[in-house]
Amino acid sequence: MEELAPKGLQGVYVDKTEIATTDSTGNLVYRGYKVVEIADKLSFEEVAYLVVYSRLPSKMENAEFRKFLADQSEIPDYVVRIIGEMKGMNIMDVLRTSVSALTASGRDEKALLSLAAKFPAIVNIAGNGAVKGKELPGSFSERFYYFMTGKNNAKYANLLEKILIMYMEHEFNASTFALRVTASTMADPVCAFTSALATLKGPLHGGANSEVLKFLLGLKNQDEVKKYVDETLEKKEKLMGFGHRVYKDKDPRAQYIKGLLIKHFSDREVVKNAVFMEEYVWEKKNLAANVDFYGALYMYLLGIEEKYYLPVFACSRVFGWVAHYIEQQKNNKLIRPLALYTGKTNQKL
Ligand code: SDX
Repeated sequence: MEELAPKGLQGVYVDKTEIATTDSTGNLVYRGYKVVEIADKLSFEEVAYLVVYSRLPSKMENAEFRKFLADQSEIPDYVVRIIGEMKGMNIMDVLRTSVSALTASGRDEKALLSLAAKFPAIVNIAGNGAVKGKELPGSFSERFYYFMTGKNNAKYANLLEKILIMYMEHEFNASTFALRVTASTMADPVCAFTSALATLKGPLHGGANSEVLKFLLGLKNQDEVKKYVDETLEKKEKLMGFGHRVYKDKDPRAQYIKGLLIKHFSDREVVKNAVFMEEYVWEKKNLAANVDFYGALYMYLLGIEEKYYLPVFACSRVFGWVAHYIEQQKNNKLIRPLALYTGKTNQKL
């Protein structure tokens, strides 16, 4: 009998990668560097450069890269018109549609990064009709924070930068694997990014982060947390923000964001309830909080509206997608598995 891979390809290594991995101690590693270590020390641009080019930039390269991302964030007029036609619609849908309307100038890092640089500007126009006016801030996270809130807040932009680094790359998660399948057909980068964006939106994947706040803000104390968890589990429904295919005990990104929440927002009741919920769910169902659980609360406390949570994930993860598109091309083989046929046979007309 042909060997059937486990459902969902659980535990199956389908290819090699040199970009990221979770190491044996459950750390997330980008190009050999522990993410929780570089997040404290490097800027978003330096980490994005590392993920894409597999080495840290020199001072000069970093300055050029920052400028490149700022300059390339200009959106073509016809795409601005498409965004205008989709006014008020879900920002992730507008992002997916707008990106699919862009054209790639090539298949190398620069061409892909030029597309990636446009994501926050599309989110800005889709979210609030383009925050115009004074000179935009120079760094990616300050610019992005300004796009979403209209505020220049260096402290909160720096805190946003930390979660952007946490979200940037995660080996063969569903949306990245969708990108690799598309890239393996030699489809252009816009096709590959569109596949990835469409896949990321699912509530079992990136879409979870906007689901978390729907319940978390409504739970006023520990009894209400317990009641919500018990009822959800009794109904055999999923607790959004919990569980993970790879991290079975701790998601290092969730723990890193939790640390920042406690450091900067420990006085908030909702933070105390979230920490209690994490412990209660672990006790009850051995499910760990994932990056989306604490990530959603973190963005809320940074004053970012829920409509931007999944777009924030996408605007960072696209730099991981750039690296994976390049890696797939370097040693490409069309990804085309088999399906074991269990349907009807010998049917006669
Ligand atoms: C991301 O893969 C990545 O790297 C993704 C990501 C990235 O950076 O790209 O890390 C980002 O997508 C994080 C995950 C965000 N999704 C959610 O928070 C949605 C809720 N989580 C679940 O749907 C689930 O945990 C998954 C989909 C994330 C992982 O599920 P698996 O590995 O397919 O495991 P499973 O669904 O088969 O669950 C195993 C058991 C089941 O119980 P039994 O049927 O065996 O009794 O655990 C239960 C599940 O019912 N379970 C949950 C649960 N997650 C798993 N029960 C309640 N709530 C949950 N959240």
